[in-house]
Amino acid sequence: MRGPQRALCLLLVASASLAALYLHLWAPKDPPIVDLRRPPPERLPPPLPPSARAYPHVPFRLKEEVMELLPRNGCSCEAEAEAALPLRRRIFGPGPVGFDFASAFAPGERPRQLRLREREYRNYRNRVQTPADRLLIVPANSPLEYPAQGVEVRPLQTVLVPGLSLQAPARNRYQVNLTASLGTLAVAAEVEGVALQGEGQPHLSLAAAHLDHLNRQLQFVTYTNTQFHPDTADIVQFSTDGHTAAFAIRIRHPPTPRLYGPGTASDGDSDGDGDSDSSGDGGYNISALVTVATKTFLRYDKLRGLIASIRRFYPSVTIVVADDSQRPEPLSGPHLEHYLMPFGKGWFAGRNLAVSQVTTKYVLWVDDDFIFTPRTRLEKLVDVLERTSLDLVGGAVREITGYTTTYRQRLSVRGGGAGGDCLRTRPGFHHRLAGFPACVVTDGVVNFFLARTDKVRQVGFDPRLRRVAHLEFFIDGLGVLHVGSCEDVVVDHASKLALPWRRSEGERQYNRYRYPAARDDSLRLKQRLFFYKNRFKCMAGD
Ligand SMILES: *[C@@H]1O[C@H](CO)[C@@H](O)[C@H](O)[C@H]1NC(C)=O
Ligand SMILES: *[C@@H]1O[C@H](CO)[C@@H](O)[C@H](O)[C@H]1NC(C)=O
Repeated sequence: MRGPQRALCLLLVASASLAALYLHLWAPKDPPIVDLRRPPPERLPPPLPPSARAYPHVPFRLKEEVMELLPRNGCSCEAEAEAALPLRRRIFGPGPVGFDFASAFAPGERPRQLRLREREYRNYRNRVQTPADRLLIVPANSPLEYPAQGVEVRPLQTVLVPGLSLQAPARNRYQVNLTASLGTLAVAAEVEGVALQGEGQPHLSLAAAHLDHLNRQLQFVTYTNTQFHPDTADIVQFSTDGHTAAFAIRIRHPPTPRLYGPGTASDGDSDGDGDSDSSGDGGYNISALVTVATKTFLRYDKLRGLIASIRRFYPSVTIVVADDSQRPEPLSGPHLEHYLMPFGKGWFAGRNLAVSQVTTKYVLWVDDDFIFTPRTRLEKLVDVLERTSLDLVGGAVREITGYTTTYRQRLSVRGGGAGGDCLRTRPGFHHRLAGFPACVVTDGVVNFFLARTDKVRQVGFDPRLRRVAHLEFFIDGLGVLHVGSCEDVVVDHASKLALPWRRSEGERQYNRYRYPAARDDSLRLKQRLFFYKNRFKCMAGD
């Protein structure tokens, strides 16, 4: 190629690549997909157990009295001297000490119950574990090697502290010190040639002429929590000449799980990956897994329509109705619980009451003027919660006009200093949900959602919100609820647009309560709650 031709060619190539780069950078992008199916790969236990250095030539002697304090892979409820405590009697009544809960099942039934429970427990742990719980050991870039995080002890119990060692250049004498503040340090075995000082006290000093001996001894260091706290951490100082490090030992009762039976037709014994079921319906027994909860106020015609529509598709699912009407009308039928409340207790108080009575793993929230149709496939929502780490998943509501809404809201909070934080709400979602093409991850959804019962109770519905309220629940749930939304599960909204002159007296009264004038006190109350309770300065919405 001649010079000018070559330059032209180079120019063409360069501009084409620039154009490609430009297109790449500016092409509209979908939000990235997130995979929350269990077990989420990044939440599995750390792949590498801390590689204990081996010192086979260094002898040691186990100390039984300390070994006994360490957690073992098993526990028993054998009677102790103080077993006849009054509290125990109040809970279990007089009788044999050491109560075996498996005896509540027939002997032939126990292995199966145990198996099912363990499966649910595994799923629960996959949901609640975070990387912050992982054991991390910092290698010897300072001469001190120690566990950065992931060491945990139950209140007033003892653990081995893994990962301690000194990696120092050769010298005559090696010394390290450990100092705790909420507990004491000891050793589970004594290693030859190591001088210990302060055993059983908050400050433990170890010295040896040989580094291997010191390091072998460090592998037997135990920590005993002595100051009770259900959930805190002890920051332990670890030092040697010229170097200091600190690491946390978490002190807590791990949260007690609340498990429910799996409620699948096969009782969920197949512990597969759940992908065998392409229909997404999974053979779930909806009556065993779901309770439908609603709150009503005066609109009995609408409520009866809702109940009849539910019964067409789910004849035996339990329905819980909270009712704060002035002159309640009787409601009866199988699998129906009607709870009467004092007149006008309000919308969130009613939601709380209804949810408090649920005994199934999941609760489905519906408004009293919704209508189930063949598109109201609860199995799909159950499948999402069974197979992901989400806590709550909303569906879609179809208005009488044919317009369908999922009311997906993203909530974000920016720290605002002493004046309070700033809340922003924006329609939309954060991610699409892998494996569920119609579903996304977001923060707030419409009044039609399926949720883990215990998580909804954990957030609660603030009963001070008596009238129009909805998003407040999701705001209270920030950091607690992991929320999704699926547009392929649809419930119908019975007419909201009835002509005013055709409204019944009940409807007129309902509207007076439900849609108070804009200047009504309820708006001010809401703002006060945001201000004071949630410590928000302001809210902005797009
Ligand atoms: C360790 O603690 C002892 C006192 O118990 C002290 O004399 C010594 O200087 C400390 N050594 C280091 C390295 O902190
Ligand atoms: C579904 O669950 C209900 C309530 O627990 C139970 O009565 C019913 O027998 C179950 N149905 C099947 C098919 O397992």
